[in-house]
Amino acid sequence: MTTSSFAERLITWQKQHGRHHLPWQVGQPYNVWLSEIMLQQTQVATVSDYYPRFIARFPTVASLAEADQDEVLNLWAGLGYYSRARNLHKAAKQIMDEFGGDFPQSRSELEKLCGVGRSTAAAIAAFAFQQRETILDGNVKRVLCRIFARDGNPADKKFENSLWALAESLLPQKNEHMPAYTQGLMDLGATVCKRSKPLCSQCPMADICEAKAQDRIAELPRKKSAPEVKTLPLYWLVIRRQNGALWLEKRPQKGIWGGLYCVPCFEHLNDLYHYASLFSVLPENLEESPAITHRLTHRLLMITPFSAMLETSTPTQTISDGLWVAPEDLVQYGLPQPLQIFLQHNSSDFIATKENKPVKQTKRKFMK
Ligand code: ADE
Repeated sequence: MTTSSFAERLITWQKQHGRHHLPWQVGQPYNVWLSEIMLQQTQVATVSDYYPRFIARFPTVASLAEADQDEVLNLWAGLGYYSRARNLHKAAKQIMDEFGGDFPQSRSELEKLCGVGRSTAAAIAAFAFQQRETILDGNVKRVLCRIFARDGNPADKKFENSLWALAESLLPQKNEHMPAYTQGLMDLGATVCKRSKPLCSQCPMADICEAKAQDRIAELPRKKSAPEVKTLPLYWLVIRRQNGALWLEKRPQKGIWGGLYCVPCFEHLNDLYHYASLFSVLPENLEESPAITHRLTHRLLMITPFSAMLETSTPTQTISDGLWVAPEDLVQYGLPQPLQIFLQHNSSDFIATKENKPVKQTKRKFMK
């Protein structure tokens, strides 16, 4: 097969069967960039819900650059992978300060932005500037490994480089075709050449697909060996006042839930007891809730909440890095998703934050 026939087939198929009405398909670099960052680890359905709210609040890169980080993180809360939001905010400042407010147009310049890797830079360059740059995310790797029966270890850098080279060799010749072609690659991977139960009968490449001809669809691409997932026990101190106000701290920028607001969180129970004593709360006055498990990429958090309601007579604390937040004000703070869910289930006065919809990519399970 000639490479041009691959691109032509894909573009024709995309025009007829691809996705055309996604909210970010407006061709503006800011919208494309924001959506690509959101879509890095989150499904289209979830992003379709968050993206319009984000754009309504921050319609331009300048407005995002000027924003307070807390507000950015609050709008992101629930999407997970918060380093994306912190990088997005930093990149908006970079665009204003280093690029005079104009989006860089080449892939190499785009890659200088915080949080933008090669494939994301290529997607922005292709969608917003019609540059002949190829994307290569997990879905595209799967599509290529199947159609061209590429059999290799996905963790092997050489194999990955060979896929980049293959992807580059397939690009359409004309710049104007880049948006439809790039969307076609994404759509084919997401809707037809799916990881399990691919819809080969609907695939525009079925007659040239080498994995299909060799009956190796289920085998390709080779699976990555599962990353080791360590369990990390954590303890939350959920302290409330009689009026329902909750004690929150801003998390350090680095690490789990960086920059979000959370109840005091500890790796060791003794540290929690010590902190509670600053509020004159004794261990026997803490109510333990069943542990919540929360999966991050490489870690399984096992969070045990300990709650206490302060007596009206409890002296006001003297701890400097925290604040009391009234239930009706919680909506203004970016809270980690498992905390939002815990509060929803454990306080009658918890005020719904935004839509308060549980998000698909993070699994939630309450342990007995
Ligand atoms: N996944 C990553 N980028 C995407 C896009 N622009 N449209 C749909 N799914 C995507």
